[in-house]
Amino acid sequence: MARGKLITFEGGEGSGKSTQASHLVAHLGGQGIEAVLTREPGGVPFAERLRELILARRPSSPNTEFLLFAAARCEHIADLIEPVLALGQWVVCDRYIDSTRVYQGRLAGIDDELISMVEQKTVAPVFPDLTFILDVNPRIGLERARARGELSRYDAASDAAHRTVRQGFLDLAAGEPKRCVVLDGGETEIELAGQIAAVVDRRFLGRF
Ligand code: TYD
Repeated sequence: MARGKLITFEGGEGSGKSTQASHLVAHLGGQGIEAVLTREPGGVPFAERLRELILARRPSSPNTEFLLFAAARCEHIADLIEPVLALGQWVVCDRYIDSTRVYQGRLAGIDDELISMVEQKTVAPVFPDLTFILDVNPRIGLERARARGELSRYDAASDAAHRTVRQGFLDLAAGEPKRCVVLDGGETEIELAGQIAAVVDRRFLGRF
């Protein structure tokens, strides 16, 4: 049986990742492909507990935060992502390795070499087959998140931090243009869902 695909969604706060991830799962279902929707940090009970811990209060050391995100990901891969892909189903994940590279790497200053080493030892070979980076002006993203009453502690970060995150994702996409597709998160929900479905159909389902 063919292994499933792992598709991830990345971007700043309020970029519409979660909404688009569910649209994609529904679209895949319509094409006869079973896909599991999940998120990071979290996705499985142990990792969801780590999520509560990490998001409730920032640890004193950026290393602690980095290692907790990495630990949550290990559980997620072991208990959900890998077994689902092995069954031939697809996984659509709201945030994954690129969030670590940007938030812990760019923003919190964790060394790229350390991030890459931990990825190689704990994530590989479960890298995404495709990553959508939803790029949105942080001002619009924060307004959306505020309107939903969903401001996490990261949202309270400075404008400079939000710009760093945005640029960080764009730089990652430029470095891996085959895996990463950047889309305008300022588009309407329906328009964006159509663009995402078209990319997936073209890339994996041979539909043009
Ligand atoms: P969440 O409320 O899920 O934010 P969003 O709705 O924007 O996805 O909180 C997740 C936060 O965790 C988000 O601000 C980014 C951060 N994060 C990291 O810093 N590193 C990571 O590896 C992951 C997966 C998330």
